[in-house]
Amino acid sequence: MPTYQEGIFIEDANNFNVSEYKLVENDIAKIKKSISSILNEKSDNVYVVISFGKELWSMLSDLELDNFKDFATLQGKNGHQMPSTQNDLYFRVLGKDQSLVLDQTIRIEEALKGTFEVVLSENGFVYKDYRDLTGFVDGSANPKEEKKYPAALIPENENGGNGSFVFHQKWVHDLEKFNQLPVSVQEKIIGRTKQESIELEGDDMPENSHVSRTDAKHDGVAMKIWRRSFPYGSAVERGLFFIAYTCDPFRVDIQLDRMLGNTEDGVSDRIMEFSTAVSGGYSFAPSVEELNKALKV
Ligand code: HEM
Repeated sequence: MPTYQEGIFIEDANNFNVSEYKLVENDIAKIKKSISSILNEKSDNVYVVISFGKELWSMLSDLELDNFKDFATLQGKNGHQMPSTQNDLYFRVLGKDQSLVLDQTIRIEEALKGTFEVVLSENGFVYKDYRDLTGFVDGSANPKEEKKYPAALIPENENGGNGSFVFHQKWVHDLEKFNQLPVSVQEKIIGRTKQESIELEGDDMPENSHVSRTDAKHDGVAMKIWRRSFPYGSAVERGLFFIAYTCDPFRVDIQLDRMLGNTEDGVSDRIMEFSTAVSGGYSFAPSVEELNKALKV
Protein backbone atom coordinates (compact mmCIF):
# COMPACT_ATOMS: atom_id res chain seq x y z
CA MET A 1 0.00 0.00 0.00
CA PRO A 2 1.52 3.38 -0.99
CA THR A 3 2.45 5.65 1.93
CA TYR A 4 1.11 9.20 1.94
CA GLN A 5 3.43 12.04 2.99
CA GLU A 6 3.12 12.19 6.76
CA GLY A 7 3.23 16.01 7.02
CA ILE A 8 -0.12 16.31 5.23
CA PHE A 9 -2.00 15.14 8.32
CA ILE A 10 0.13 16.51 11.18
CA GLU A 11 -2.25 18.53 13.36
CA ASP A 12 -0.21 19.61 16.37
CA ALA A 13 2.42 21.80 14.64
CA ASN A 14 2.30 25.51 15.39
CA ASN A 15 5.01 26.88 13.12
CA PHE A 16 4.90 26.78 9.37
CA ASN A 17 6.70 27.83 6.25
CA VAL A 18 5.58 27.59 2.68
CA SER A 19 8.14 28.10 -0.07
CA GLU A 20 7.52 27.99 -3.80
CA TYR A 21 10.22 27.57 -6.44
CA LYS A 22 10.72 27.98 -10.17
CA LEU A 23 12.97 25.67 -12.14
CA VAL A 24 16.10 27.31 -13.59
CA GLU A 25 17.97 24.19 -14.76
CA ASN A 26 17.25 21.57 -17.44
CA ASP A 27 19.62 18.81 -16.36
CA ILE A 28 17.30 16.12 -14.97
CA ALA A 29 20.06 14.38 -13.00
CA LYS A 30 20.96 17.65 -11.27
CA ILE A 31 17.31 18.37 -10.50
CA LYS A 32 16.80 14.92 -8.96
CA LYS A 33 20.01 15.19 -6.96
CA SER A 34 19.16 18.57 -5.48
CA ILE A 35 15.67 17.48 -4.40
CA SER A 36 16.93 14.13 -3.04
CA SER A 37 19.55 15.85 -0.90
CA ILE A 38 16.77 17.69 0.98
CA LEU A 39 14.93 14.50 1.80
CA ASN A 40 18.12 12.81 2.98
CA GLU A 41 19.04 15.63 5.38
CA LYS A 42 15.71 16.31 7.04
CA SER A 43 15.71 17.01 10.79
CA ASP A 44 13.64 14.60 12.92
CA ASN A 45 11.48 17.25 14.54
CA VAL A 46 10.03 18.87 11.46
CA TYR A 47 7.81 17.57 8.68
CA VAL A 48 8.22 18.46 5.02
CA VAL A 49 5.50 18.11 2.41
CA ILE A 50 6.93 18.28 -1.09
CA SER A 51 4.78 18.78 -4.15
CA PHE A 52 5.37 19.32 -7.85
CA GLY A 53 3.82 21.53 -10.51
CA LYS A 54 2.50 19.62 -13.52
CA GLU A 55 5.36 20.43 -15.87
CA LEU A 56 8.13 19.45 -13.45
CA TRP A 57 6.28 16.28 -12.45
CA SER A 58 6.02 15.20 -16.08
CA MET A 59 9.80 15.69 -16.43
CA LEU A 60 10.44 13.40 -13.45
CA SER A 61 7.77 10.75 -13.68
CA ASP A 62 5.69 8.92 -16.29
CA LEU A 63 2.84 8.49 -13.82
CA GLU A 64 -0.25 9.85 -15.59
CA LEU A 65 -2.65 11.79 -13.41
CA ASP A 66 -5.98 12.48 -15.12
CA ASN A 67 -7.02 15.51 -13.13
CA PHE A 68 -3.65 17.22 -12.67
CA LYS A 69 -3.37 20.72 -14.13
CA ASP A 70 -1.85 24.14 -13.62
CA PHE A 71 -3.92 26.75 -11.85
CA ALA A 72 -5.27 29.34 -14.31
CA THR A 73 -6.26 32.87 -13.30
CA LEU A 74 -9.97 33.07 -12.47
CA GLN A 75 -12.17 36.10 -13.08
CA GLY A 76 -15.29 36.47 -10.98
CA LYS A 77 -18.68 37.80 -12.04
CA ASN A 78 -18.53 40.65 -9.56
CA GLY A 79 -15.10 42.11 -10.30
CA HIS A 80 -13.08 39.74 -8.11
CA GLN A 81 -10.03 37.95 -9.43
CA MET A 82 -7.88 35.03 -8.32
CA PRO A 83 -4.49 35.24 -10.03
CA SER A 84 -2.41 32.26 -11.02
CA THR A 85 1.22 32.32 -9.91
CA GLN A 86 1.82 28.69 -10.88
CA ASN A 87 5.24 27.43 -9.76
CA ASP A 88 7.26 24.22 -10.24
CA LEU A 89 8.18 23.00 -6.78
CA TYR A 90 6.39 23.53 -3.48
CA PHE A 91 7.34 22.89 0.13
CA ARG A 92 5.40 23.12 3.36
CA VAL A 93 7.61 22.79 6.42
CA LEU A 94 5.91 22.37 9.78
CA GLY A 95 6.84 21.66 13.37
CA LYS A 96 6.61 22.80 16.96
CA ASP A 97 9.87 24.70 17.07
CA GLN A 98 10.20 27.87 15.02
CA SER A 99 14.01 27.56 14.94
CA LEU A 100 13.86 24.09 13.42
CA VAL A 101 11.22 25.09 10.88
CA LEU A 102 13.39 27.99 9.77
CA ASP A 103 16.56 25.86 9.71
CA GLN A 104 14.80 23.33 7.47
CA THR A 105 13.40 26.08 5.23
CA ILE A 106 16.90 27.51 4.75
CA ARG A 107 18.38 24.03 4.16
CA ILE A 108 15.89 23.50 1.33
CA GLU A 109 16.70 26.84 -0.28
CA GLU A 110 20.44 26.13 -0.08
CA ALA A 111 20.09 22.61 -1.48
CA LEU A 112 18.09 23.89 -4.46
CA LYS A 113 20.40 26.81 -5.28
CA GLY A 114 21.39 26.65 -8.96
CA THR A 115 18.52 24.35 -9.93
CA PHE A 116 15.53 26.25 -8.51
CA GLU A 117 14.89 29.87 -7.60
CA VAL A 118 12.67 30.75 -4.65
CA VAL A 119 9.79 33.03 -5.68
CA LEU A 120 7.55 33.00 -2.62
CA SER A 121 8.26 32.15 1.01
CA GLU A 122 5.86 32.83 3.87
CA ASN A 123 6.12 31.98 7.56
CA GLY A 124 3.03 31.34 9.62
CA PHE A 125 1.86 30.37 13.06
CA VAL A 126 -1.16 29.27 15.06
CA TYR A 127 -3.01 32.44 16.05
CA LYS A 128 -4.76 32.13 19.43
CA ASP A 129 -7.05 29.07 19.43
CA TYR A 130 -6.67 28.23 15.71
CA ARG A 131 -8.16 31.50 14.50
CA ASP A 132 -7.73 33.38 11.29
CA LEU A 133 -6.62 37.01 11.86
CA THR A 134 -10.25 38.09 11.39
CA GLY A 135 -10.78 36.44 14.80
CA PHE A 136 -12.84 33.52 13.43
CA VAL A 137 -11.81 29.92 14.09
CA ASP A 138 -10.48 28.38 10.87
CA GLY A 139 -10.83 24.65 10.35
CA SER A 140 -14.04 23.91 12.32
CA ALA A 141 -15.72 22.08 9.44
CA ASN A 142 -12.60 20.26 8.26
CA PRO A 143 -13.32 16.53 7.86
CA LYS A 144 -12.68 14.77 11.17
CA GLU A 145 -10.82 11.56 12.04
CA GLU A 146 -10.88 8.97 9.23
CA LYS A 147 -12.88 11.27 6.93
CA LYS A 148 -9.87 13.44 6.18
CA TYR A 149 -8.11 10.66 4.23
CA PRO A 150 -10.60 10.26 1.36
CA ALA A 151 -10.98 14.06 1.19
CA ALA A 152 -7.21 14.59 0.82
CA LEU A 153 -5.85 11.50 -0.91
CA ILE A 154 -6.24 9.86 -4.31
CA PRO A 155 -7.81 6.41 -3.65
CA GLU A 156 -5.19 3.70 -3.07
CA ASN A 157 -6.18 1.62 -6.10
CA GLU A 158 -6.00 4.52 -8.58
CA ASN A 159 -3.03 6.00 -10.44
CA GLY A 160 -1.08 8.10 -7.94
CA GLY A 161 -2.81 6.32 -5.02
CA ASN A 162 -2.29 8.01 -1.63
CA GLY A 163 -0.83 11.03 -3.38
CA SER A 164 -2.62 14.33 -2.95
CA PHE A 165 -3.33 17.39 -5.06
CA VAL A 166 -2.32 20.58 -3.26
CA PHE A 167 -3.70 24.08 -3.67
CA HIS A 168 -1.76 27.08 -2.35
CA GLN A 169 -3.31 30.55 -2.35
CA LYS A 170 -2.03 33.56 -0.45
CA TRP A 171 -4.69 36.00 0.77
CA VAL A 172 -4.00 39.55 2.00
CA HIS A 173 -6.58 40.82 4.50
CA ASP A 174 -7.87 44.36 4.95
CA LEU A 175 -8.41 43.91 8.69
CA GLU A 176 -9.06 47.58 9.32
CA LYS A 177 -12.09 47.37 7.02
CA PHE A 178 -13.29 44.05 8.48
CA ASN A 179 -12.83 45.11 12.11
CA GLN A 180 -14.97 48.21 11.59
CA LEU A 181 -18.01 45.98 11.11
CA PRO A 182 -20.18 44.94 14.05
CA VAL A 183 -19.55 41.32 15.07
CA SER A 184 -23.11 40.38 13.99
CA VAL A 185 -22.27 41.49 10.42
CA GLN A 186 -18.89 39.74 10.47
CA GLU A 187 -20.70 36.55 11.47
CA LYS A 188 -23.01 36.85 8.45
CA ILE A 189 -19.95 37.21 6.20
CA ILE A 190 -18.31 34.06 7.54
CA GLY A 191 -21.47 32.04 8.28
CA ARG A 192 -20.44 31.11 11.82
CA THR A 193 -20.51 32.78 15.21
CA LYS A 194 -17.27 34.49 16.15
CA GLN A 195 -16.69 33.31 19.70
CA GLU A 196 -17.92 29.70 19.61
CA SER A 197 -17.69 29.03 15.85
CA ILE A 198 -21.26 27.71 15.63
CA GLU A 199 -22.62 27.48 12.10
CA LEU A 200 -25.53 29.84 11.37
CA GLU A 201 -28.76 28.06 10.53
CA GLY A 202 -31.83 28.56 8.34
CA ASP A 203 -32.67 32.18 7.52
CA ASP A 204 -29.71 33.39 9.60
CA MET A 205 -27.28 31.94 7.06
CA PRO A 206 -26.89 34.29 4.07
CA GLU A 207 -26.27 32.74 0.64
CA ASN A 208 -23.23 35.01 0.19
CA SER A 209 -21.49 33.89 3.41
CA HIS A 210 -18.17 32.10 3.11
CA VAL A 211 -19.59 28.87 4.52
CA SER A 212 -22.57 28.94 2.10
CA ARG A 213 -20.22 29.36 -0.86
CA THR A 214 -17.69 26.70 0.15
CA ASP A 215 -19.93 24.01 1.68
CA ALA A 216 -20.58 22.64 -1.80
CA LYS A 217 -22.03 19.49 -3.34
CA HIS A 218 -21.68 18.30 -6.91
CA ASP A 219 -24.01 15.57 -8.25
CA GLY A 220 -24.90 14.82 -4.64
CA VAL A 221 -21.26 14.38 -3.54
CA ALA A 222 -19.93 16.72 -0.84
CA MET A 223 -16.80 18.46 -2.20
CA LYS A 224 -14.76 17.85 0.97
CA ILE A 225 -11.14 18.98 1.08
CA TRP A 226 -8.53 18.91 3.87
CA ARG A 227 -7.55 22.47 4.77
CA ARG A 228 -4.21 23.28 6.42
CA SER A 229 -4.12 27.07 6.05
CA PHE A 230 -2.11 29.29 8.38
CA PRO A 231 -2.21 32.97 9.31
CA TYR A 232 0.83 35.13 8.63
CA GLY A 233 1.32 38.71 9.61
CA SER A 234 3.46 41.74 10.33
CA ALA A 235 3.08 45.51 10.42
CA VAL A 236 3.44 45.48 6.63
CA GLU A 237 0.99 42.79 5.51
CA ARG A 238 -1.27 40.18 7.08
CA GLY A 239 -3.63 37.49 5.97
CA LEU A 240 -4.17 33.80 5.46
CA PHE A 241 -2.02 31.39 3.52
CA PHE A 242 -4.68 29.02 2.26
CA ILE A 243 -3.59 25.42 1.75
CA ALA A 244 -5.84 22.55 0.74
CA TYR A 245 -5.13 18.88 0.04
CA THR A 246 -7.64 17.14 -2.16
CA CYS A 247 -8.25 13.86 -3.96
CA ASP A 248 -9.36 15.91 -7.00
CA PRO A 249 -8.57 19.56 -7.88
CA PHE A 250 -12.11 19.77 -9.28
CA ARG A 251 -13.34 20.04 -5.67
CA VAL A 252 -11.29 23.19 -5.15
CA ASP A 253 -12.36 24.56 -8.55
CA ILE A 254 -16.02 24.21 -7.59
CA GLN A 255 -15.46 26.10 -4.33
CA LEU A 256 -13.46 28.86 -6.02
CA ASP A 257 -16.12 29.29 -8.71
CA ARG A 258 -18.79 29.48 -6.04
CA MET A 259 -16.74 32.11 -4.14
CA LEU A 260 -16.35 34.11 -7.36
CA GLY A 261 -20.02 33.92 -8.31
CA ASN A 262 -19.25 31.89 -11.45
CA THR A 263 -22.39 29.88 -10.87
CA GLU A 264 -26.00 30.01 -11.97
CA ASP A 265 -26.97 32.12 -8.96
CA GLY A 266 -24.10 34.58 -9.63
CA VAL A 267 -23.64 35.10 -5.88
CA SER A 268 -20.10 35.83 -4.71
CA ASP A 269 -18.48 35.30 -1.33
CA ARG A 270 -18.47 38.41 0.87
CA ILE A 271 -15.09 37.40 2.30
CA MET A 272 -13.54 38.78 -0.90
CA GLU A 273 -14.61 42.31 0.05
CA PHE A 274 -12.09 42.08 2.89
CA SER A 275 -9.36 39.87 1.53
CA THR A 276 -7.55 39.65 -1.81
CA ALA A 277 -6.01 36.55 -3.37
CA VAL A 278 -2.48 37.39 -4.56
CA SER A 279 -1.12 33.96 -5.52
CA GLY A 280 -2.41 30.57 -6.62
CA GLY A 281 -1.02 27.26 -7.80
CA TYR A 282 -1.76 23.57 -8.00
CA SER A 283 0.78 20.85 -7.30
CA PHE A 284 0.91 17.12 -6.64
CA ALA A 285 2.28 15.59 -3.45
CA PRO A 286 3.13 12.01 -4.50
CA SER A 287 3.18 9.06 -2.13
CA VAL A 288 6.61 8.31 -0.62
CA GLU A 289 7.07 5.41 -3.04
CA GLU A 290 6.19 7.48 -6.13
CA LEU A 291 8.46 10.25 -4.87
CA ASN A 292 11.44 7.90 -4.47
CA LYS A 293 10.77 6.44 -7.90
CA ALA A 294 10.62 9.88 -9.51
CA LEU A 295 13.89 10.98 -7.89
CA LYS A 296 15.88 7.85 -8.81
CA VAL A 297 18.78 8.61 -11.17
C1 HEM B 1 -9.43 34.96 2.91
C2 HEM B 1 -9.35 33.64 2.79
C3 HEM B 1 -10.11 32.72 3.67
C4 HEM B 1 -10.45 32.84 4.99
C5 HEM B 1 -10.11 33.98 5.94
C6 HEM B 1 -11.22 31.67 5.34
C7 HEM B 1 -11.76 31.43 6.58
C8 HEM B 1 -12.68 30.45 6.87
C9 HEM B 1 -13.42 30.34 8.09
C10 HEM B 1 -13.30 31.28 9.27
C11 HEM B 1 -14.25 29.26 7.97
C12 HEM B 1 -15.27 28.75 9.00
C13 HEM B 1 -14.70 27.74 9.94
C14 HEM B 1 -14.29 26.46 9.28
O1 HEM B 1 -15.10 25.58 9.01
O2 HEM B 1 -13.10 26.34 9.01
C15 HEM B 1 -14.00 28.67 6.68
C16 HEM B 1 -14.63 27.55 6.19
C17 HEM B 1 -14.34 26.97 4.98
N1 HEM B 1 -13.52 27.46 4.02
FE1 HEM B 1 -12.45 29.17 4.11
N2 HEM B 1 -11.31 30.85 4.25
C18 HEM B 1 -10.66 31.45 3.20
C19 HEM B 1 -10.53 30.97 1.92
C20 HEM B 1 -11.02 29.76 1.48
C21 HEM B 1 -10.85 29.21 0.16
C22 HEM B 1 -10.04 29.86 -0.96
C23 HEM B 1 -11.50 28.02 0.13
C24 HEM B 1 -11.66 27.01 -0.99
C25 HEM B 1 -10.81 26.82 -1.95
C26 HEM B 1 -12.09 27.81 1.44
C27 HEM B 1 -12.79 26.69 1.81
C28 HEM B 1 -13.48 26.56 2.99
C29 HEM B 1 -14.31 25.41 3.31
C30 HEM B 1 -14.51 24.16 2.47
C31 HEM B 1 -14.88 25.68 4.56
C32 HEM B 1 -15.86 24.79 5.33
C33 HEM B 1 -17.26 24.98 4.81
C34 HEM B 1 -18.23 24.06 5.53
O3 HEM B 1 -18.36 22.92 5.10
O4 HEM B 1 -18.79 24.50 6.53
N3 HEM B 1 -11.79 28.89 2.23
N4 HEM B 1 -13.04 29.42 6.01
